[in-house]
Amino acid sequence: MSAGTPARLAILISGRGSNLQAFIDAIASGALEAQISVVISNNPDAAGLQRATAAGIPTRCINHRDYTTREAFDAALAAEVQSWEVDLVILAGFMRILTPVFVQPFRGRLLNVHPSLLPKYPGLNTHQRALEAGDREAGVTVHFVTLELDGGPPIIQSRVAVMPGDTPQTLADRVIAREHIIYPLAAQWLLCGRLQLTDKGVCLDGQAIPATGIDYQQVDR
Ligand code: GAR
Repeated sequence: MSAGTPARLAILISGRGSNLQAFIDAIASGALEAQISVVISNNPDAAGLQRATAAGIPTRCINHRDYTTREAFDAALAAEVQSWEVDLVILAGFMRILTPVFVQPFRGRLLNVHPSLLPKYPGLNTHQRALEAGDREAGVTVHFVTLELDGGPPIIQSRVAVMPGDTPQTLADRVIAREHIIYPLAAQWLLCGRLQLTDKGVCLDGQAIPATGIDYQQVDR
């Protein structure tokens, strides 16, 4: 990234792309100083591809069904991302398990959003699992991606109360509104140099942050 040129992002999606839209909107508002160089999907039918096209962003599809192994898919995906010379890779509802072939080259500049308060509920059906467990709060985590599924070091979390009568859908609706706030914020911290993944963990403004990430309630705004 050079002075005066906006940082370049690749955003990887598999579906609806509401987090992609949050990035488009955060860039338009000036809250995120970046440009989206490309949106890549593993799913040719991902609705988010249309959002990208509507915003004038180039799209690519690398269909995982065209590859016989995860590693072969990841190699093709990594090559495509590298061809765009991006500063940061954003997984925004990208529903593929990634191997070291993809994860290693982007260490420290590969982020994911996961709809739970990690380390609780890695994997799928997070809201249903939170409701079944009788949890009184749920939320979302933005984290660096490492080789452990949904297990990389958290950057920021936002919590919501579980309400009486909540269904997985009503809870998901409340949580995703928070995703749309904290994910572009974490990207901005990284791009402006405030946030780093170090050997000792995640640092914000040179200070190690808590193991579960910064609590969004505590962020000055
Ligand atoms: C989001 O809730 C995101 O947290 C989740 O997929 C949804 C994508 O929504 N990601 C994961 O579960 C990753 N493990 P979107 O396509 O509208 O952004």
